[in-house]
Amino acid sequence: MLNTHLPEFRPVSYSRVTLTELMIPSYANFGGKIHGGILLSLMDKVAYAAASKHAGNYCVTVSVDGVNFLQPVEVGELVSLLASVNYVGRTSLLVGIKVIAEDVRSGSVKHTNTSYFTMVAKDDSGRPTAVPGLTLETPEDSRRFLEAIKRREFRERNKAEFDNALSALAVHQEMYLLQQERCQIVY
Ligand SMILES: CC(C)(COP(=O)(O)OP(=O)(O)OC[C@H]1O[C@@H](n2cnc3c(N)ncnc32)[C@H](O)[C@@H]1OP(=O)(O)O)[C@@H](O)C(=O)NCCC(=O)NCCS
Repeated sequence: MLNTHLPEFRPVSYSRVTLTELMIPSYANFGGKIHGGILLSLMDKVAYAAASKHAGNYCVTVSVDGVNFLQPVEVGELVSLLASVNYVGRTSLLVGIKVIAEDVRSGSVKHTNTSYFTMVAKDDSGRPTAVPGLTLETPEDSRRFLEAIKRREFRERNKAEFDNALSALAVHQEMYLLQQERCQIVY
């Protein structure tokens, strides 16, 4: 049951957010590139903004998928994070975030990563609360919604398989795997 102040559905465009930030020297690591943690924090912020706007309530981050930094980000670049709600469940939302970095002198733009943040809306007492459904306004919106369903199915299948593999793990029977890796056993 939705709060009375919330509509039954909200369009994807209602909560689409772009956050742009200049990469200043204090964001750099010892190698002179931008810390991954700075980008993660910006991604969390923009995911929060998009999810909370759609939900009409504060949201919390539950899980993060697909964070791969494909290319380094340099000091002086203008980073933009483009976020939109791709999927909604009952109380959860999946926010897709595309991160691009622009060299302000040449104008060249690189795509550094695309990640997916699962957020859950909370009510005033901190309990998960229902979010409006999503109005899909373009074929792209439908593709993203379907992709999110597939991603969730895939993750659940993988998790079940991984949990089985872990519960069946007998270290003494699988020592041969360690022998093929770059480690040494000293006990
Ligand atoms: C996420 C949280 C709300 C789940 O609480 P819960 O009592 O298990 O609630 P529910 O089982 O009703 O799950 C709520 C929703 O979260 C989803 N969810 C729960 N765990 C999840 C996970 N690991 N990955 C993806 N979705 C998850 C559920 O599928 C459900 O979605 P739906 O309502 O759209 O179907 C709770 O674990 C929490 O508050 N975690 C802390 C989050 C936080 O504070 N983050 C900030 C970083 S410190």
